[in-house]
Parts: sequence; C-alpha cells; structure tokens
Amino acid sequence: MNSVLITGANRGLGLALAQQFSACGYKLYLVVRTESSKIDLLKELPDANVLICDVTTNKYEVLLNEWLSDISLDVIINNAGSGTKAPTLESTKSEFLRKEFETNCIGVLATVKGALVALKRKHNSLVINISSRRGSLTMQSELAAKGSGCSYSYRISKAAQNMLTLCLADDLEDLNIRVVAIHPGRLLTKMASTDADMTPELSAKKLLAMVKCNKLKTRDYISLDTGELPW
Ligand SMILES: NC(=O)c1ccc[n+]([C@@H]2O[C@H](COP(=O)([O-])OP(=O)(O)OC[C@H]3O[C@@H](n4cnc5c(N)ncnc54)[C@H](OP(=O)(O)O)[C@@H]3O)[C@@H](O)[C@H]2O)c1
Repeated sequence: MNSVLITGANRGLGLALAQQFSACGYKLYLVVRTESSKIDLLKELPDANVLICDVTTNKYEVLLNEWLSDISLDVIINNAGSGTKAPTLESTKSEFLRKEFETNCIGVLATVKGALVALKRKHNSLVINISSRRGSLTMQSELAAKGSGCSYSYRISKAAQNMLTLCLADDLEDLNIRVVAIHPGRLLTKMASTDADMTPELSAKKLLAMVKCNKLKTRDYISLDTGELPW
C-alpha cells in the first residue's frame, strides 16, 4: 500500500490532498496542530494516522521520527505554511520574517529530517515542498510581485524554502529520493491572494495526477496553473 505524509492537513489545500490521496488508496500520515483538528479530521478520514505537533517546535523532528519508526513513506507533502499580510517596508516586522522562516523553511527541514528513515525504506520516494510563485527570485526580479500586496515575510521565506528544496535535491539524489517544489495555484483558501481563482480540490487533483503518473523529477519547480517555473 502506498503511503503519504501531509503537514497542515486540517484545512485548505492540506485537507483536500488528504481526501484525494485517501480516495486513491494511500495510507495517510497527517500532521496538525490541535486536538480539535485531529478530532475533526478523524470524523472524515477515520483510517488516518494523525500526529499533533506544530512544525516549528523543537521537539517536532524527534516526535516525527519516533512516530514513523516502523513506517515506509512513498511521498511527503510539506504543505503547512503561514503568511502575514505586510507588503511594505513600513508594515513588515522582523518577527513576521522569523515566524514565516520558521514555518515555511525550518518546518520543512525538520519534516524531511524526521521522516528520512521512513522515506529511505521506499525506492524512488518523493518530497513535495508546497512552494509559491512568490518564491521565484527570477520572477520577482522581473517585477512579478511588485504591487501585488504579497508580504516581505512570505516572499523571503518561500525563496528560502526553494533553496532548501535544491539543497535537499543535491543531498538526497544518491538515495533515490526526489525533491520538488510546487506552486499549487492561486487558491481560494484562508491564505488566498487577491487574484485567487482555483479551489483547493482542483489543485489537489492536479497534484495527485502528477504523482500517479510518476513524472515529477528531482529539482522540478512547477506551477499547477501554468507549468514549469524559473527558480
Ligand atoms: N492559497 C494560495 O493561493 C497559495 C498559493 C501558493 C502557495 N500556497 C501554499 O500552499 C500551502 C497551503 O496553503 P493554504 O492556502 O491551504 O492555506 P491555509 O488554508 O491557511 O492552511 C495552512 C495550513 O498550514 C497549517 N500550519 C500553519 N502553520 C503551521 C505550523 N507551525 N505547524 C503546523 N501546521 C501549520 C495550518 O494549520 P492551523 O489550522 O492549525 O493554522 C493549516 O492547516 C502553504 O504552504 C501555502 O504557502 C498557497
């Protein structure tokens, strides 16, 4: 049986991914932050395995490693993410950058480190980092985000996550573990941008289709809207 680990699985894209991977027969390993999120998730997905932990806490990596001690994972989806609406130098604060860096970059690192043994148990396993078009330095240098209202902290943390994706791809290649970055589209979720137009269900369906056809290559950076993105 195939298995997938999804962080931030209680709402938005993470929930849609959990529903669709479950419908496709995957065994679910889900990370959420609260007991009430776990209770709600289990009402809908009673066979899921759920770990309650904030991905930014010091104990997370060790807890995850213990939780997965005899598990094999085909896919990890680093979906948990945060953003703060502060798009100007005046409105942004160091604390926003710290928070987003902790969630969108260090949380991803901790997840991969905590789950590495489980990933190594499967051949050609896959780490999907849910990135953003706003993490592309090339696109930002071409003014793609100018005037968009997207915050300093979100853009900087997703660019850092993209570099982490490339570091991991280099490091894990010899273990036959692929690492990719995916922009999921402009989603109609709590985090929605002003130009959001895609349901999380459609985004999850597109990502599942890509996983099923096994075409994702390590170092891919792909928008589920528009195709390949420049790093
Ligand atoms: N929405 C978009 O248009 C868009 C575009 C590009 C990329 N993305 C990316 O897509 C991913 C999913 O976003 P979404 O739109 O579904 O947003 P969302 O509805 O706000 O969901 C965010 C999820 O992340 C979880 N989370 C946040 N911080 C966490 C932490 N420290 N530890 C554990 N879980 C944490 C949240 O849990 P709680 O419920 O406990 O807060 C929630 O489940 C994010 O990485 C986001 O950056 C979204």
